[in-house]
Amino acid sequence: MSLTDREPQALDVLDDAGRKVLFTEARTANTFAEVAVSDDELALIWDLARWSPSAANGQPLRVLFVRTDEGKERLVRHLDEGNRAKSLQAPAVAVLAYDVDFHEQMPTVFPARGDMLRAAFADQTEKRESLAAYNSALQTGVFLLAVRAAGLAAGPMAGFDRAGVDEEFFAGTSWRSHLVVNIGHPGADPWFPRLPRVPAEDAVAYA
Ligand SMILES: Cc1cc2nc3c(=O)[nH]c(=O)nc-3n(C[C@H](O)[C@H](O)[C@H](O)COP(=O)(O)O)c2cc1C
Repeated sequence: MSLTDREPQALDVLDDAGRKVLFTEARTANTFAEVAVSDDELALIWDLARWSPSAANGQPLRVLFVRTDEGKERLVRHLDEGNRAKSLQAPAVAVLAYDVDFHEQMPTVFPARGDMLRAAFADQTEKRESLAAYNSALQTGVFLLAVRAAGLAAGPMAGFDRAGVDEEFFAGTSWRSHLVVNIGHPGADPWFPRLPRVPAEDAVAYA
């Protein structure tokens, strides 16, 4: 039997309800209800998000879930002023970071070539950082979908002092913050007006 004789594998298609939850009706929340987010919900978010693809399966994304009053106080002083109230109100706030030493885990996450990849990256500090930033951004998109898939609203925010957050939470580690994501159930008047999306004719080409 040749390859071409094989039946193609039929992949599932996300139904309308799923498309609404993840894409077409999903919104960025700006206020949050006083409803707790459970340990199980946060665990589910990572359990889904970790399936994101990444270059050489390197998976540089890291997450700090901030939930206590003390943790929130430490975080919000590094946020832009206009972003503080949202994070104080959200029951959980994820500080997304990338690990600039992600290459250390290559033997585990890419067993076939991990030792070689770890050695190749060992003295490539700049390249590691740019790869970590790029791939963690990709993983972050999947993380936001995972929040939605867990029945929660996400509020991503880049308006914060990254160096300040790193000093506050990640001093002496290889984690570098890149995004703060408020997580919870939407509160009063949670959405800004929906902004237009780029239509296919302006964004998509075919060759
Ligand atoms: C990388 C990134 C940075 C953002 N930074 C902020 C921010 O600092 N403050 C804020 O209020 N919203 C921020 N947003 C939210 C966006 O403005 C919002 O997701 C976008 O307007 C789409 O809104 P919608 O999902 O409701 O359609 C950010 C979103 C992303 C993905």
